[in-house]
Amino acid sequence: MKMLRNLKSRLRIAAATAAILLGLAPASAQIGDADRGAEVYNKQCKSCHMLGEDARNRVGPHLNGLFGRKAASIEGYRYSKDMQRAGADGLVWQAEQLDVYVTKPQALVTGTRMSFRGIKDSEKRADLIAFLRAYSDSPQDIPEAAPTADPTEHDVDPAILAIVGDPEYGEYLSGECTTCHQASGADQGIPSITGWPQEDFVVVMQAYKSKARPHPVMRMIAGRLSDEEIAGLAAYFEGVE
Ligand code: HEC
Ligand code: HEC
Repeated sequence: MKMLRNLKSRLRIAAATAAILLGLAPASAQIGDADRGAEVYNKQCKSCHMLGEDARNRVGPHLNGLFGRKAASIEGYRYSKDMQRAGADGLVWQAEQLDVYVTKPQALVTGTRMSFRGIKDSEKRADLIAFLRAYSDSPQDIPEAAPTADPTEHDVDPAILAIVGDPEYGEYLSGECTTCHQASGADQGIPSITGWPQEDFVVVMQAYKSKARPHPVMRMIAGRLSDEEIAGLAAYFEGVE
């Protein structure tokens, strides 16, 4: 599946390159369209965020200079605890992180205060990201083709979400987790992972696995787990009171 997707995106890049060389199509054929992105922004973000000259923090922080900006770094804006933790862990906004956040904010930052249901259409997200990029410092230096070449990459594959986890197997694997995460679910610096809906748990673990989430230890742990193991852990921890 992954190989096929890679091949598909390589073919698309090859086709786009050929088109440029032949002078046939504008280079933007396969990447986000900033004009269409402006419409997405106006409909879905503008009620809470400001952009451009004189932008102030409103319900959400202003979004100028977003690319390369550390999460939770705008002075005078009161971020959620989880967004602050993500910033401290090293979350920096780039196309990939924005793509994950806008798809499903809680997949990237569990307790984010941004209550937004997410944009499922990957093309709309690519357009939006192209639009936001224009309000960043030196947008011409920000690579755009790579992250948007395969716009579906950051949706968790429905086949992975469909795996039915075995809670007994999950319990067996959970010993490694509970050395840090309290089995009781107590939150002492390390977040609680008990009683989560299974799908949320899987989406978050996949976000560490794909390195969209910043925490290095959790990236390594999730990277070693197979999709079946993650499903088992999700099934087990959901049932822990
Ligand atoms: C209902 C209001 C609301 C809407 C709609 C909304 N946001 Fe937000 N946004 C917030 C809030 C509140 C925060 C602060 C989140 C936190 O502290 O956890 C935020 C944070 C962010 C951040 C993190 C900024 C930083 O400084 O780290 C980004 C990026 C962002 N939003 C992008 C968007 C985009 C793009 C859209 C449109 C698709 C959007 N938001 C729609 C309220 C909103
Ligand atoms: C060495 C300590 C350690 C171990 C072992 C560990 N974790 Fe974590 N985990 C953390 C820390 C610290 C965080 C907070 C990371 C962050 O800020 O993104 C975290 C975050 C998480 C989160 C996201 C929580 C949230 O509120 O966003 C999940 C889910 C999770 N871990 C699952 C697991 C599972 C499943 C295992 C076992 C396979 C495991 N962890 C093993 C330290 C650990």
